[in-house]
Amino acid sequence: MRRFKHRARIVAIMLAVMTPLGIGAATAGAGSGFFSADDGGKDWPAGGRDQSDQHFSPLTQVNEDTVGRLGLAWYWDLPKPQLAISVPLEVGGVIYTATGYSIVRAFSASTGKLLWEYDPVVRDRRMAQAWGIRGLAYWKGHILFGAVDGRLMSVNARTGKLVWSMQTLQKGDSRYISGAPRVFGDKVIIGHGGAEFGANRGYVTAFDAAGGRQLWRFFTVPGDPAKGFENKAMALAAQTWTGQWWKFGGGGTVWDAITYDPELDRLYIGTSNGEPWNHKIRSPQGGDNLFVTSIVALDANTGDYIWHYQVNPGDSWDYTATQNMVMATLAIDGRPRKVLMQAPKNGFFYVLDRETGKLIGADKYDKVTWADHVDLDSGRPVENPNARYQDGHTVIWPGPVGAHSWQPMAFNPNSGLVYIPTMTMPGSYDDRGIDLKAYRAPQNPFTLHGGLNIDTTSEIPADAGTSSLVAWDPVGKKTVWRVEQPGGWYGGTLTTAGNLVFQGRADGKLVAYSADKGKPLWTFDAQVGIVGTPISYWVDGRQYVSILAGFGGSGLVFGEMVRRFGWDYRSQKRRLLTFVLDGTQSLPAPGPRAQTNFIDALDYRPNPTLEQLGSRIFVSKSCYACHGFGAIAAGGAPDLRASAIVTDQSSFDRVVIKGALESAGMPKFYELTPAETGAIRQYILSRARLARVQESGESVSSAQPAPAR
Ligand code: HEC
Repeated sequence: MRRFKHRARIVAIMLAVMTPLGIGAATAGAGSGFFSADDGGKDWPAGGRDQSDQHFSPLTQVNEDTVGRLGLAWYWDLPKPQLAISVPLEVGGVIYTATGYSIVRAFSASTGKLLWEYDPVVRDRRMAQAWGIRGLAYWKGHILFGAVDGRLMSVNARTGKLVWSMQTLQKGDSRYISGAPRVFGDKVIIGHGGAEFGANRGYVTAFDAAGGRQLWRFFTVPGDPAKGFENKAMALAAQTWTGQWWKFGGGGTVWDAITYDPELDRLYIGTSNGEPWNHKIRSPQGGDNLFVTSIVALDANTGDYIWHYQVNPGDSWDYTATQNMVMATLAIDGRPRKVLMQAPKNGFFYVLDRETGKLIGADKYDKVTWADHVDLDSGRPVENPNARYQDGHTVIWPGPVGAHSWQPMAFNPNSGLVYIPTMTMPGSYDDRGIDLKAYRAPQNPFTLHGGLNIDTTSEIPADAGTSSLVAWDPVGKKTVWRVEQPGGWYGGTLTTAGNLVFQGRADGKLVAYSADKGKPLWTFDAQVGIVGTPISYWVDGRQYVSILAGFGGSGLVFGEMVRRFGWDYRSQKRRLLTFVLDGTQSLPAPGPRAQTNFIDALDYRPNPTLEQLGSRIFVSKSCYACHGFGAIAAGGAPDLRASAIVTDQSSFDRVVIKGALESAGMPKFYELTPAETGAIRQYILSRARLARVQESGESVSSAQPAPAR
């Protein structure tokens, strides 16, 4: 506390002195509490820098004229394979990062020296092994973060010593934390994920930041009516559900997006898909299913409901509204409006009036086939025929990964543009033959609760799965520029008052574009694919840019689209990189590209029936979520087509059924029988064989199994 006051004074003095050197006037973000000392962008104390979540830096020392001089100041190599995808923080010359299952580290921003490391030692890894932790929060000399196993923790920012730890989940449930907590006043709030891995009702919980005492909790979907509703909002929401929805949990988890509005003293939470995915299973007579796939405004002091806007009434596609929500004041029809902006998975860009929740705009920012348009008066989408795949198999844009996944978009108040990292990728859906009577929810939390047939290998057009950076005009409701990116996965965005946008790419390049035109101005070869989000800050008269480089994270399931870059799970170098003008460091020369040596099991005999069964289990048990669709790994886990373990049934069972590699992040599938793992092996062997044949250039009929069920 004392240290902070002291620092704030120094900042004020520095600002007076340094404005001509390059700290532009602060335009972004209203503030309160910790953020009220708007320091001209000196620090980066929250994921989106300030509470507006704009990912905008007012600094201008690095700008479109000087960015060519940007060079590496230092780098730090992560010691072993672990996800390196989160947004770092910087406060007072110290950078904080979270990697893997919430190992938190502090570094000197100017030298790169490791100051401390805190490992919460997560034993219970759950599905979030594949999802990772996406960020941290800073509050008065403390770093607050979630651990995958559900603990919300506070450590001393100077020493790295634990101050408090609170379990935010229920004993034995399959929820998990993958998002960053958000600080508002002297409170902190966290949600959780898990809307496909168990009968989970989503909720957010607010705690007192100093001691971790629980203040309030808001559930996002109603529970069993026989037990009574927690509040009026839940009673209201229950009228939009049918059947015995509570038995399925319902979903609506708040796994990432929370924005605090200091002007209105409100929180906005973004909720996920319904659980199971298929609407007709969880709510058989229809209904909108509030508050899944919604933005909900809550009173920050009490957690009471204020308004909501639902992007997908009766969601049936895994379209989450959990993407980051950006606050700004925009001139709409010549009148300043306090707005909230989001580009959720479903491909429409939403602008809401955050005072009332009224819809101002909803326009397609990428390829969308599930709906024709959103009616601005009713706020409801007009769905296209068979969008709910009730008439049988159909390919729909976007698919479950979304036109925009969790990597943050950024808003630049100077250009007036929003920079959205997008991916143009459909999903294939079919619910013929699936009904409520036959539906059995899986028990294992690593298993997808879909209630539909999904298949994403054999149906997807060859030209799908491209990604691009889209500069969107939220007032003019149109794309102003668009830069195609290599490969089907991408990093989050940073924009600055130096008329720049920074984004990492799947091919390992960190690129700076001009914010107004999208012209590439600077490129750095990080030697590994980037999924993380850059930040910028000011230390001792210099502007820095830092980013975690590494390839992985939820949604990275399409190995075919990124395989050519060669970011092998075990050999890729995950790093914290920091840049400054005239930085002179360079990375060591990269080792040879990892070769995937596909296994050649001598005892392999084609068996299409068994291979099909294996393929189905591979999808239904979510093996694909880490090892990639079609067993083509994308860097988030080893490529099983090159794993010697697959050639031996008993070794395979030790890993898959008995959990021999659990501590390294490979979950235990205790419910599988050796007959089932035998089918999975057979499937992987067939995929390895196909890859060998393709590699050797022989022609082979694409031995793809039929759509998985
Ligand atoms: C949540 C992510 C995740 C899921 C889901 C998952 N795995 Fe893994 N798996 C991993 C990781 C990470 C490793 C590497 C562990 C290590 O470092 O040794 C691994 C390793 C393995 C290995 C050993 C590979 C080798 O050569 O060392 C096999 C075999 C395997 N997984 C099979 C499966 C099967 C079959 C499924 C589905 C039933 C599955 N995995 C689901 C993450 C996952």
